[in-house]
Amino acid sequence: MNFIELYKELKRIEGVNERFVMESIFGEKLERLLTKNKIDKRKVKKFYRILNLLKKGEKPEYIFKKTTFLDEEFYIEKGVLIPREETAEIVNYLKELKNKNFSPERILDFGTGTGILAIWAKRIFPDSQVVAVDCLKRACKCTLINSKNKKLKIKIITAKNFKIFKKKFDLIITNPPYLSEEEFIKFGPFKGESKKALVGGKKGYETFLKWLKEGFEVLKPKGFFISEISSFWSKKILRKFEKYLIYEKKDFYGKKRMWVFIRF
Ligand SMILES: C[S@@+](CC[C@H](N)C(=O)[O-])C[C@H]1O[C@@H](n2cnc3c(N)ncnc32)[C@H](O)[C@@H]1O
Repeated sequence: MNFIELYKELKRIEGVNERFVMESIFGEKLERLLTKNKIDKRKVKKFYRILNLLKKGEKPEYIFKKTTFLDEEFYIEKGVLIPREETAEIVNYLKELKNKNFSPERILDFGTGTGILAIWAKRIFPDSQVVAVDCLKRACKCTLINSKNKKLKIKIITAKNFKIFKKKFDLIITNPPYLSEEEFIKFGPFKGESKKALVGGKKGYETFLKWLKEGFEVLKPKGFFISEISSFWSKKILRKFEKYLIYEKKDFYGKKRMWVFIRF
């Protein structure tokens, strides 16, 4: 038995990031492991226990309670959305805003999940007050752990809507659940991820439209509302909000991925 054989076993399972699993179990870089001969027997036992879970469709992120976003590690628990790389588009746009001297006093990340966007917002705008909201207690717990690990001060609230806010925001960022019921079945199964984090209604855009409307009510004049979107959406769904749309950004696959609105 050597590391290459173990690695090959993982490669046979579809959709599994072999590097992530190998490095998480053996605690060393894959390149180094593949050139080693000696393996700790206890770790081989652990490997096969995890291999069985992976074969049953368990997500490695939930097994190891960690995930990555922009090459950085974040704590995660089952049920909380595993960050997707497309969400980096929002981070890139926040950096652009910063370069244009935008300096928000208050920022809201609605539907924060693991807290990735709130954490990046606080890094980019360190003088802002950042509020992170999620309806799932477990997501709020992950955000708390992640913000503490990264030594960033973020206000975390478990809530279901925007009505709880008395003070308005200069910037709202969100990656709402945006799959339709049909897409949820077609692109699934999303084992371990909560349906609440993925499905935005029968057509997919109902939650987004609700958050856009409610979000505008707590947005200051000249404030920005930035949302990740489904590439299948057309501007027509926006109706009276289309006049506030100032920018549509594509992701690295060339698919529509983000809308930016300004309140005037
Ligand atoms: C697509 S996930 C995004 C998570 C994270 N922001 C990210 O980009 O990885 C949507 C998030 O919205 C949360 N959510 C769904 N409905 C909600 C509601 N009514 N109020 C607050 N959060 C909600 C889910 O729990 C989930 O964490």
